[in-house]
Amino acid sequence: MNNCIILAGGQGKRMKTTKPKVLLEVLGEPMLEWVIKACESAGIENICVVKGYEGEQVEAYLSQRKGSADIKTVLQSERLGTGHAVMMAADYLKERNGGNTLILCGDAPFIDKETIEGSLALHTKEGNAVTVVTSEISQPHGYGRIIRNENGISGIVEEKDCTDEQRKINEINSGCYWFDTASLIDVLSELKPNNAQNEYYLTDCISLLLSKGKRADAYISHNKNVSLGANDRRGLLMLNDIARMNIIDKWLDFGIEFTCLDGVSIGTQVEIGAGTVIESGVRLSGKTKIGEGCHIMTGCMLNNTVVGNNTVLNFVQSNDAVVEDNVKIGPWVQLRPDTVIKSGVKIGDFVEIKNSVIGECTAVAHLTYVGDSDVGANVNFGCGCVTVNFDGEKKFRTMIGDNSFIGCNTNLVAPVKVGRSAYTAAGTTVTKDVPDGALAIDRNKQANIAGYAEKKLKARNEKIAAQKKA
Ligand code: UD1
Ligand code: CA
Repeated sequence: MNNCIILAGGQGKRMKTTKPKVLLEVLGEPMLEWVIKACESAGIENICVVKGYEGEQVEAYLSQRKGSADIKTVLQSERLGTGHAVMMAADYLKERNGGNTLILCGDAPFIDKETIEGSLALHTKEGNAVTVVTSEISQPHGYGRIIRNENGISGIVEEKDCTDEQRKINEINSGCYWFDTASLIDVLSELKPNNAQNEYYLTDCISLLLSKGKRADAYISHNKNVSLGANDRRGLLMLNDIARMNIIDKWLDFGIEFTCLDGVSIGTQVEIGAGTVIESGVRLSGKTKIGEGCHIMTGCMLNNTVVGNNTVLNFVQSNDAVVEDNVKIGPWVQLRPDTVIKSGVKIGDFVEIKNSVIGECTAVAHLTYVGDSDVGANVNFGCGCVTVNFDGEKKFRTMIGDNSFIGCNTNLVAPVKVGRSAYTAAGTTVTKDVPDGALAIDRNKQANIAGYAEKKLKARNEKIAAQKKA
């Protein structure tokens, strides 16, 4: 049985935050979440997170997390090194002895399924006690260097303990390892803080295992970013940029057209159909899914929104909504949760729709609020209509039948029902149900007062003249 230990004790002082470093976000998800997802994707479901700085926040995050992994936590109350951190999980390992244990850094978000699986394959094939995931990079400064020999590796030397020659090595320790669990338990208690930093180095396990006649080797990851973490806000921004560009790169291969990448950000769980065009300043997040041939124009922010095919969205903010095929929405429209926009609908500027169904080919052209409503097909809303859904205490629904015509500036005071093919006159406040085919009108007769303006003007001029005299 395989386990994973994720080291998540870091503070990230230079980030200047009270959050533990692993909860800082890359593309809207904590770095720890990226690492856990990589484990889950590689089929590793038993995870022990070593928390430290602000450990309660890590605990709180994990307790509300949805995912398949079974995650336990242990606390490292003093930060005495990576070896010490793993010691905190010794009991966890003893309970789950038998297979292999993967060790990952919770603040290196780009660990991936292929690297985890590839290194495990080498680890088991060679019968290693430890297999270190490495990467060959041009700027190895700060990382532990890999010392290879004819039989695998002979150790890892930290930057601060390197000789000048060793410092030139550019194969580095990513901080990810596979250990034979029993061998790891065996040497953990033998680690000593005898080094430049007086820390318990996890990397010292390698020489200890070799001295017991066991094998150690290194697996070079294809993923150049596997070891990347962030020490400050600049570094975190760089991680975001790398993640953002990786995702965009993938969608380019799937036939998505980007007109300009400025301000474009696409979440890891988002799906997009071929032939869709994405303009600058578009943010797609959560479980947003967009169909084929859509045009997502500048300023769209779609979260957990499902969009059909051939739909055009322009400056639309949408949360937890569904928009079907051949729909045109925008500019400056907000779709709030539990909204369904059926095929062929047209929605124009300054419209807000909440918890409502808008039937096929209905038009809501301008300045309208539709909330808690069931609107049929081919309905036309004039400008400035409002469904009055809230009486100060409770919310009520409005129903509008197919082919109805809601005149400009109509208020529909819910609960109320407008029948099929019914009309409301401009300016009407509808408080009673409107039968099928009827017109609702609540206007008083218009009165025109002759000569009104002249009288008004005279009074005003007299007032101004009096003020001048005074
Ligand atoms: C470690 C490796 C180094 C490797 C680098 C990759 C050791 C001795 N060195 O460096 O060879 O190139 O990772 O990034 O292991 N942590 C704790 N508690 C501690 C110390 C660290 O939880 O007491 C966590 C950190 O939060 C981080 C991870 O362990 O997630 C790595 O620690 P960090 O200090 O970044 O790594 P180094 O020791 O510098
Ligand atoms: Ca009125």
